[in-house]
Amino acid sequence: MSVRIIVAKDYDEMSRKAANIIASQIIMKPDSVLGLATGSTPIGTYKELVKKYENKELDFSEITTVNLDEYKGLSREHDQSYYYFMHDNLFDHVNLRKDASFLPDGTKADSEKECAEYEAKVASLGYADLQLLGIGRNGHIGFNEPGDVFVKDTHVVDLTESTIDANKRFFASADDVPKQALSMGIGTIMHAKTVLLLASGKDKAEAIKNSFFGPVTPQCQGSILQFHSNVIVVCDEDAYSLVK
Ligand code: GLP
Repeated sequence: MSVRIIVAKDYDEMSRKAANIIASQIIMKPDSVLGLATGSTPIGTYKELVKKYENKELDFSEITTVNLDEYKGLSREHDQSYYYFMHDNLFDHVNLRKDASFLPDGTKADSEKECAEYEAKVASLGYADLQLLGIGRNGHIGFNEPGDVFVKDTHVVDLTESTIDANKRFFASADDVPKQALSMGIGTIMHAKTVLLLASGKDKAEAIKNSFFGPVTPQCQGSILQFHSNVIVVCDEDAYSLVK
């Protein structure tokens, strides 16, 4: 097991450090498969990556991306779909090839089939060289919610009340938050050669403590990362505040 924890002063410093780590991955392996994440946490990191691209420090032309998850039922044009988020925050601002970015499609009638096809796609790419992760307040990674098991492959998830509550700020009301999502499984994530997990703010302090300093249990899905051989956590002081 190898978990390196880097504590940054605040969100901005976390974002800069994370972008530097991703940048070195791209420089060292220009045809990397990057596993990407959504949520408010990585937005600053994506901004830093766009800046590096604009400054001609980075070239995305050989990069392939795979995303962790997508809400079920939201069209790609919906401004809360993760497809829209990724285009808005990164894809439209760098020189990624148009056919080199993959997300599960939440609009397919047969979600189980879509999940199986997505898993096969990620596997055919050799899984992520570097997987970026945020973490839910309840320790979820991707949309792998607390439960009795770790689900291996990409699957359909029923979102928990806690996640719907956390994400309702992006929708008109909690009723508008999709109740299901398609998410990479824990096995898909654990195949990544490097995992880079970001966390910022006191809201995430419990999840960081439980994931990296508690027992490995599906009740806190992030804790499985203790069994990964190459994990880097970049968190700010608030997110680290419950670690003694
Ligand atoms: C979302 C996403 C996760 C993300 C997490 C935290 O629901 N599915 O991939 O890491 O919840 O989100 P945020 O960064 O907004 O706190």
